[in-house]
Amino acid sequence: MQLIRVSSYEELSRKAADIISAQVILKPGCVLGLATGSTPVGTYRQLIERFRRGDLDFSRVTAFNLDEYLGISPEHPQSYHAFMQEQLFRHINICPRRCHVPEGCAEDPRAFARAYDQAIAEHGGIDLQLLGIGNNGHIGFNEPSGVFYKGTHVVDLTDSTIDANKRFFANREDVPKQAITLGTSGIMHAKKVILLAFGKGKAEAVRAMVTGEIDPKCPASILQLHDDVTLLLDKEAAALL
Ligand code: PGA
Repeated sequence: MQLIRVSSYEELSRKAADIISAQVILKPGCVLGLATGSTPVGTYRQLIERFRRGDLDFSRVTAFNLDEYLGISPEHPQSYHAFMQEQLFRHINICPRRCHVPEGCAEDPRAFARAYDQAIAEHGGIDLQLLGIGNNGHIGFNEPSGVFYKGTHVVDLTDSTIDANKRFFANREDVPKQAITLGTSGIMHAKKVILLAFGKGKAEAVRAMVTGEIDPKCPASILQLHDDVTLLLDKEAAALL
């Protein structure tokens, strides 16, 4: 794992955007794996600015998002569909039919999951996967459990994830209890991975990911087996390394 230490959120966002920009410039028809959460918001802002300046062209890019809450429609303001539209897609020239986010309202989520993995494979896999990390060590919504789930799958969210995400909802009870997420195989098959972690709340998860056992109790620890992972960490997130 390559580690890049940054001194501010601004620097984290700029460096992450530098790596994504390089990918899009080198391979204009690339496949990006994208993430939601608060951490990548600054990165998306940087990408939008670079697009507006004429430095980036997303017209041939395909995007596959990591996850979506189950039972929530794309129009719901807290859906990850809405998040991606608001934070990135509607501000750049990416083609809407090339923006893929798992369907939270799919009639048969398991069939949808298989089709999602198939669609990624048909596009030649993910060139660059952007990740955050949960304070419980999750990547996407691969929650701590007894096994690494390979493919896209439906998952029960843990109490710690529900607690972490309740800030986006009026009440804790409104946070969906299940989600659909790309599995560890989808993430591990990405040619390159960048993971962003900011703040002391992430320090223990970062420690377990980098120096702990490879264990599904910290799903991010599987990244130790990936050949091309870059971690962008501020001082607090890196404090236990
Ligand atoms: P955050 O979420 O960026 O909002 O901290 C990260 C994650 O849960 O993967």
